[in-house]
Amino acid sequence: MDVTIFGSGYVGLVTGVCLAEVGNNVLCVDVDPKKIDLLNSGGVPIYEPGLDELVQKNREAGRLNFTTDAEAGVKHGLFQFIAVGTPPDEDGSADLQYVLAVARSIAEHMDTYRILVDKSTVPVGTADKVANEVREVLKRRGTDLEFDVVSNPEFLKEGAAIDDFMRPDRIIVGTDNPRTAELLRALYAPFNRSHDRLIHMDIRSAELTKYAANAMLATKISFMNELSNIAETVGADIEKVRVGIGSDPRIGYQFIYPGCGYGGSCFPKDVRALEQTARALGYDPQLLHAVEAVNFRQKTLIFNKIHQWFDGDLKGRAFAIWGLSFKPNTDDMREASSRVLMESLWDAGASVRAFDPVAMEETRRIYGERPDLVLTTDAMSAVEGADGLIIVTEWSEFRSPSFEAIKKALSSPVIFDGRNIVDGTLARAAGLSYLSIGRAPLTPDA
Ligand code: UDX
Repeated sequence: MDVTIFGSGYVGLVTGVCLAEVGNNVLCVDVDPKKIDLLNSGGVPIYEPGLDELVQKNREAGRLNFTTDAEAGVKHGLFQFIAVGTPPDEDGSADLQYVLAVARSIAEHMDTYRILVDKSTVPVGTADKVANEVREVLKRRGTDLEFDVVSNPEFLKEGAAIDDFMRPDRIIVGTDNPRTAELLRALYAPFNRSHDRLIHMDIRSAELTKYAANAMLATKISFMNELSNIAETVGADIEKVRVGIGSDPRIGYQFIYPGCGYGGSCFPKDVRALEQTARALGYDPQLLHAVEAVNFRQKTLIFNKIHQWFDGDLKGRAFAIWGLSFKPNTDDMREASSRVLMESLWDAGASVRAFDPVAMEETRRIYGERPDLVLTTDAMSAVEGADGLIIVTEWSEFRSPSFEAIKKALSSPVIFDGRNIVDGTLARAAGLSYLSIGRAPLTPDA
């Protein structure tokens, strides 16, 4: 089938490449000529495991092409995926200007039936806005060409996006037209393993499903973070509690890891946007508000622990940070806890020696050269001479370090573990103090 994807960002590229991989003829359109030139010369503008290889393979097979020519895009595909950004407005609601601009451009150039597929995360009601936009342009052009708008939200996890697309848990298709649902079913047939994973529903429910999924996951995390703070106050161990409650299949083990807060391009933005949508319609979403507030507080927790440990005397100290991306296997630092931590340390007059397996360039891009930020070439160099080691992202390679080497390298022997990933008893045995989330601090025997 012929497919056009508007927006060659994260979602658009992954969608395009995976649809090409199963044999479709995909044309990706983006307004940024630099990005399209890069893609046409074999480069990939984002880091995502497996993406480079699939882009190469499908480009060489001629099934995946890139252009800035919107008209060619509209002429190409029966399916017109809209996968452009929806950055948050100042009030947290999603800015639809790029989505609506694509809708207008499709309406401007279409000369036969087209299916517009909303892949970007958009507020409930966006499909109606897209349809109105198309209708208006068609009216102005004096034609009554047929079209449909479908809500088909993505559920990709950064770092596992290719696998999530190729082997989805569910494929949500929101459309009021049964014939369009069947066309989408045919397009997605190669991804429907073992049993039917396509769930067809009305458009608004599909739009809300995306927000509901992310808000639910964010709620699980904030709930555990709230509980971890209670565990500390009452003298319990949140990790024991986690295992204790996760064993109930109604609760489950997934997404109940306490830590120094969630980040990324989805959870913070989507929780806020859903809150905004509800508020704009006169409903006060108290739980969503609390989920966001708890997360905000959690991002400041490690800094507060450090501040307390050093009796407020942070000026001139240097701290080692392991992990800068908002989660492992990505260089994405949007809303990352590391940023809140580094900025607080800098404000307090401390400096940072940081290492991340892939997010170093991104850190440099965000913060530039500054005297209070040293980016080291490996994890152990960051620790050299530092007043403490802080673990912020749960990369596997940080899980079992040599505590003896860390003890030797640090000038104050203390680890702050923002993700509870290293073994505190081993750290203590090596002569280090160990502070984590939701558990009592461990200090070496005097
Ligand atoms: C998320 C959803 O998982 C995905 O389905 C949706 O399409 C987009 O948003 P992503 O933002 O890539 O994906 O990251 P995810 O792996 O879900 O992690 C989000 C954040 O939560 C990270 O900062 C992670 O460290 C944190 N987290 C996750 C926890 O603090 N505790 C947990 O138990 C799980």
